[in-house]
Amino acid sequence: MIRALQREPVDRPPIWLMRQAGRYLPEYRAERKKAGGFLDLCYTPDFAVEVTLQPLRRFGLDAAIIFSDILVIPHALGQEVGFVEGTGPVLTPIRDEAGLDVLSQDKFADHLRPVYDALKTVRAELPADKALIGFAGAPWTIATYMVEGGSSRDYPNAKGWAITAPESFDRLFALLEKTIADHLIAQIAAGAQIVQIFDSWAGALPAPLFDRYSLEPIGRIAARVKQAAPEVPIIVFPRLAGPRYRDFLRLAAIDAISIDQSISPEWMRDKIQPHKTVQGNLDPAYLVAGGAAMEKAARDILAVLGGGPFIFNLGHGVVPQTPPEHVAHLCDVVADYRPVPA
Ligand code: CP3
Repeated sequence: MIRALQREPVDRPPIWLMRQAGRYLPEYRAERKKAGGFLDLCYTPDFAVEVTLQPLRRFGLDAAIIFSDILVIPHALGQEVGFVEGTGPVLTPIRDEAGLDVLSQDKFADHLRPVYDALKTVRAELPADKALIGFAGAPWTIATYMVEGGSSRDYPNAKGWAITAPESFDRLFALLEKTIADHLIAQIAAGAQIVQIFDSWAGALPAPLFDRYSLEPIGRIAARVKQAAPEVPIIVFPRLAGPRYRDFLRLAAIDAISIDQSISPEWMRDKIQPHKTVQGNLDPAYLVAGGAAMEKAARDILAVLGGGPFIFNLGHGVVPQTPPEHVAHLCDVVADYRPVPA
């Protein structure tokens, strides 16, 4: 995985899956039943270590991603964050400049210490040939949850704030940029060998706001992380960015671009792969379907991108309906693939 990110030759593309730990695994559901709320579990190293390693025990995956969530950042800044079964995240919304007063960096690092403790233990327990991925949300995606108070379809409050009071929205972004970079650097110090920045709702930004709220903040965060840890590859996932994926080629500190399933492998090969490692982009629905249809869809992606530099992944996270056997089958398909010599 690290060689693929450094654009060095590999025998076959590495594979890992976004949300590879989670509710589709019976052993995750069993652990999850034992103790309290979802966020409490993110701060319980024994739980986080166990569920991070679960998919690696079962499947031929090449990397582990630390079990945590993008919403630990607003929580560590003092915002109230909960998870409600069937609804998802629920936050006490921050809608304006006065609302920013509840946020403070005073307890940030202490609050996130259990995440770093979990990373240390996972790295010690993980076989040497498996990479460990740390992650954070990008400022825009985290801000949508902080401002809307949860998941949203249209982001009326976050967009409204950006449009009507950009100076104070920038204050929120400056705080997020700083703390996201701090969190990534601390994860690296604890054992993360690769980091991924999730901008899951980048595609919702209107064109005139895209650079200011997705591309540029991610560029500044990546530059700071790269300066602190030049050897650690950085992956960015600006989901549903469409033709804007190409703009991320301008960010020198970014090593790989993870691409959603709306983009064709040919476009990725022609526009992205000559410059940066590509990651993606099987639709998670194929992983639910399994069988010959999944196998063909995976082979079609490999036929175009498998010569590398490429990391096989989904276009978005594994969904809870996924039968675990289908993940095993997908890993076999990727393991058996050999690029045709050029
Ligand atoms: O990928 C992994 O296996 C690592 C762990 C991970 C989780 N969340 C665990 C999780 C990662 C990388 C995330 C990132 C995350 N969290 C994103 C960005 C990626 C994406 O999916 O677009 C976002 C937007 C969130 C916010 C979030 N967390 C939502 C909207 C939800 C509720 C939706 C749902 O699936 O229930 C979560 C909860 C969550 N995060 C779960 C897991 C395994 C399910 C919680 C449970 O066990 O009940």
